[in-house]
Amino acid sequence: MALQELKKGIYSVGAKDWDRRIFDELIPLPDGTSYNSYLIEGGKKTALIDTVDPEKKDELFTNLQKLNVEKIDYIIANHAEQDHSGSIPELLAKYTDAKVVTNQKCKLFLQDLLHIQENKFLVIKDGETLSLGDKTLEFIFTPWVHWPETMTTYLREDKILFSCDFFGSHLATSNLFVKNIPKVIEDAKRYYAEIMMPFRIPVRKNIEKIQALGFEIIAPSHGPVYDKPEIIINAYKDWISDRVENEVVLPYVSMHGSTERMVSFFIDSLIEKGIKVRPFNLIKTDLGQLATALVDAATVVIATPTVLSGPHPAAVYAVSILNALKPKTKFASVIGSYGWGGRTVEIIKANLINLKLEFLTPVLIKGFPKEDNFLSLEKLAEEIYLKHNEIIN
Ligand code: FEO
Repeated sequence: MALQELKKGIYSVGAKDWDRRIFDELIPLPDGTSYNSYLIEGGKKTALIDTVDPEKKDELFTNLQKLNVEKIDYIIANHAEQDHSGSIPELLAKYTDAKVVTNQKCKLFLQDLLHIQENKFLVIKDGETLSLGDKTLEFIFTPWVHWPETMTTYLREDKILFSCDFFGSHLATSNLFVKNIPKVIEDAKRYYAEIMMPFRIPVRKNIEKIQALGFEIIAPSHGPVYDKPEIIINAYKDWISDRVENEVVLPYVSMHGSTERMVSFFIDSLIEKGIKVRPFNLIKTDLGQLATALVDAATVVIATPTVLSGPHPAAVYAVSILNALKPKTKFASVIGSYGWGGRTVEIIKANLINLKLEFLTPVLIKGFPKEDNFLSLEKLAEEIYLKHNEIIN
């Protein structure tokens, strides 16, 4: 990654990962990602905020070399996950006087994950400050965005919030600052859905906590830097709010066309009632798009055939993701076709225990749908319409 200057004496020295297409062997990355690391040259001390994925450590070292950095006093670890911390051991080997500045929880994670020695740490408390001479770092604990140890570092004099994963986006771009706002918000929403949505309540508390700081720039450790922070703060406030949209997310899978015929009819019924519908064929869909759709939708309807007495494995996978991501969805139901019985609805319900949902009448039918089955689907669409009317203005 090219070396880029945020402000005088503050540089982005991390790495772009243009080609990465999957994260944690789970999350699709259609736009790659970046591991942002920031060098702050203070009057007396030099600090590095977060590092990069070890795969990209050479880019970090090249950038430090371009700046002729001979000494790093502090390596600030906002988060222990290896895409930000993984290059700390190599940095400590080169910059032997550097201390890893972090909180107690993060220190323990770093010791477990990277085997960093005890004497390399400087442990700080919530609200503590560290002077670099003419610049002051303030450490704000922002737990559960998205691990228990996550924290944010605030550079007081320059009013920059270094938020690590918080407000990040998986987007590799040559722009240091946000330029294409709709694209960045689209990727930030996907990132929120995949990473932060299960922690909606801690996210809400942490936004309240950091807002008192009066920052002018948010520099996350993935994606571009926000020089108009209200863009991402307002987007987050909407995503974490209790507001839901008049929308049905419809993950589906069909083996011989019966469930697909039901899905097709059901989509039309919903549209005719003025309800937005987002179908996702689970055999083809990008799970990130499904996760993103879950951020706002009032209702999820799982459509699956019954296979070996339960839901199709692709539907089970989608349900397990839904349960893990804990969206603010209010209503759910199941539709699908079976051959000779099974426990599809019970199994899906049992796998959605994390969600506070009202289950609406499922429509499970035998074989290819007939006229009375279409009537049942029409009734479910009507039930959704009435429920949405109760809660959405
Ligand atoms: Fe970007 Fe939680 O690591």
